[in-house]
Amino acid sequence: MEIKDRVAIVTGGGSGIGRATCLRLGELGARVVVADMNFEAAQETAGLCGGSAYQVDVTSSEECAALVHSVKKLDILHNNAGLLTNSEDFFSAPPERVVKLVNTNLAGLMLLTQAAAHAMTGRGGVIVNTASVSGLRPWPLDPIYSASKAGVVFFTRAVAEQLKARKIRVNAVCPGLVRTPMTANSPRILALTPEQRQKVGEMLVEPDEVVDVVIEFIQDDSLFGEARFIGKSGLPPEGKMIRGL
Ligand SMILES: NC(=O)c1ccc[n+]([C@@H]2O[C@H](COP(=O)([O-])OP(=O)(O)OC[C@H]3O[C@@H](n4cnc5c(N)ncnc54)[C@H](O)[C@@H]3O)[C@@H](O)[C@H]2O)c1
Repeated sequence: MEIKDRVAIVTGGGSGIGRATCLRLGELGARVVVADMNFEAAQETAGLCGGSAYQVDVTSSEECAALVHSVKKLDILHNNAGLLTNSEDFFSAPPERVVKLVNTNLAGLMLLTQAAAHAMTGRGGVIVNTASVSGLRPWPLDPIYSASKAGVVFFTRAVAEQLKARKIRVNAVCPGLVRTPMTANSPRILALTPEQRQKVGEMLVEPDEVVDVVIEFIQDDSLFGEARFIGKSGLPPEGKMIRGL
């Protein structure tokens, strides 16, 4: 799909990968709707990319529907809002955080996909989901996050044919560690020694490297139902995901 003059919604657009996507889409001439539950952050991104800000909590089906409805003709959706448990381990994750994480990372993504697919039916469109390497390989440090992202990978692959029948392509990016506020503010990373932190720093990819793949998924009309890893080194073998963060 040609990006110029297309209308694009980016969730989690107020920060990190979402903000970088908004900036690139703006440079390529898209009309960007920066959707985030943090309205101030969304406004800041909108100011940087010449887009508009929209406050949304993707865990609400009503808010997802209203977001899509607020846009006249939706062409592109980047389902990118997400969060970690940020708990010490699986056992100490508060129940409300477990539910919030699954609702944000997985259910919310499905709800917005449904709303967007209704709006795109007839004219077609493109959806890009942000999954994670932890959706391709089990990540022992945050099993709840890992399961939610595996859900995103399988949802993307499973729903691709039904969407394609409506001329909508869906793909997923699966990044390893990315240099964003999510990693910078992670209690686990903050607790590391300077030497350990330097090692982590060497593993980080830049948000723009993830955006390169998002843009390819939007532009290349032959791609659908793909879940593509992006990271500093190759996809870790089964059982070799980092344990020490
Ligand atoms: N940073 C990494 O290392 C990394 C690696 C793989 C995948 N990811 C995924 O990439 C995506 C973006 O991560 P990031 O690193 O840019 O994080 P980030 O914390 O910098 O940005 C996430 C944004 O999502 C927004 N958000 C959270 N919950 C929301 C909700 N319910 N409704 C609307 N907006 C909400 C936040 O306000 C924030 O602006 C996430 O899905 C994350 O899981 C990140």
